[in-house]
Amino acid sequence: MAREGTKKQAPNPPLRSAQGQALNQNGSGQAQAGQGEAKSPLPPFNKGGAREDLNRPSPPQAEKGKGQGLLKGKEEVEEALNLRPRRLAEYIGQGQVVESLGIAIEAAKKRGDAVDHVLLYGPPGLGKTTLAHIIAKEMDVGIVTTSGPALEKGGDLIGILTHLKKGDVFFIDEIHRLPRTVEEYLYSAVEDFAISIVFDKGSHARSYRSRLEKFTLVGATTRAGLISSPLRERFGIQRALDFYTMEELCQVVRRSAALLQVPADAEGVVEIARRSRGTPRIANRILRRVRDYAQVRHAGVITRPVTQEALELEGIDGEGLTTLDKKFLETVIIHYKGGPVGLEAIAAVLQEETDTLVDMVEPFLLKAGFILRTPKGRKATDKAHSYLGLPNASAEERQLSFLPGQR
Ligand SMILES: Nc1ncnc2c1ncn2[C@@H]1O[C@H](COP(=O)(O)OP(=O)(O)OP(=O)(O)O)[C@@H](O)[C@H]1O
Ligand SMILES: [Mg+2]
Repeated sequence: MAREGTKKQAPNPPLRSAQGQALNQNGSGQAQAGQGEAKSPLPPFNKGGAREDLNRPSPPQAEKGKGQGLLKGKEEVEEALNLRPRRLAEYIGQGQVVESLGIAIEAAKKRGDAVDHVLLYGPPGLGKTTLAHIIAKEMDVGIVTTSGPALEKGGDLIGILTHLKKGDVFFIDEIHRLPRTVEEYLYSAVEDFAISIVFDKGSHARSYRSRLEKFTLVGATTRAGLISSPLRERFGIQRALDFYTMEELCQVVRRSAALLQVPADAEGVVEIARRSRGTPRIANRILRRVRDYAQVRHAGVITRPVTQEALELEGIDGEGLTTLDKKFLETVIIHYKGGPVGLEAIAAVLQEETDTLVDMVEPFLLKAGFILRTPKGRKATDKAHSYLGLPNASAEERQLSFLPGQR
């Protein structure tokens, strides 16, 4: 995605220069929440966020030499440029979310207003970032993107907020990882479109209240439960994204195959969709792997047998379970007799971060009915046992308890 620095002056130059002087001359400027400000030579805007140009097909040459975001892998850039839907009408699935966002966008346009703040939550790869960009595109406004962990200090956030233009979308990914002190600035910014900044300490303290342009905050998270309620309550629109159905995934695969100009027959498309764990990002990733395999080992056409061969090589099975998914299930079943077992215990056996398991592994295993989440921990279901061909000790015990004379 193309990125560029701000083109215009900040909307409130007096504050910005006051802030800049106070911070750069004596370095003693302090944000309200007691955060020391950055002494970076870069303007604060560049610290935590990047303005993106939705109309440009490829990254521009460092416009004005600033605004460079984190570089992404080649495939991710390709994905963002080519495969990501740009308009609401192109967005597949999530019917209710799309409909209610469509209404909010149309209403805001009619009023000449910004869309209400939007919180999108759900497992990775379901289209949260995509929707944030679509909102900006449909509203015909700019988008500035950042993520919770990138905003380390109050100053990082203030730098971005004071540079937002009227109606802009301000997208914060992983909003549950926003530091608490930064989050507190956001409250008045999203509610009153104003921020108070305090310079210096004690008797020298001076406070400036700065008005901001009206903007739309779009927050995305895989962990809605970790967002504090004061922040969550400030989002007028809160929508959960769910896993995609087979039919929707087939549409995603067909659309992406057409964009990548890869021939795929109907059975090949279904086979990829079936193994995508309900997730468009995985569908696109698998599609690329199968494309490579088809081009190198076959005539370049994606069919069912080609997909099966290619994905066997990738360690992705018929249900889309990866090696890590299967290890997770085996750990619960073999090490912990089917559970219930706490997540930390599973993570310790697998030598994985608990966050990885919560974000990447568990949601689909829960959705597909392989595990249950109980107050005592995770339990493997009968489906998981029979899927792995392992005996279900607790089910046998249950059966035995019904037989007379066995207890
Ligand atoms: N509704 C959709 N229709 C077609 N393709 C989609 C759709 N949603 C997502 N995709 C594809 O899946 C990819 C991943 O989507 P996106 O980056 O928006 O997910 P995300 O929810 O932001 O994930 P994360 O939580 O990891 O940030 C996109 O680049 C896009 O190509
Ligand atoms: Mg995202």
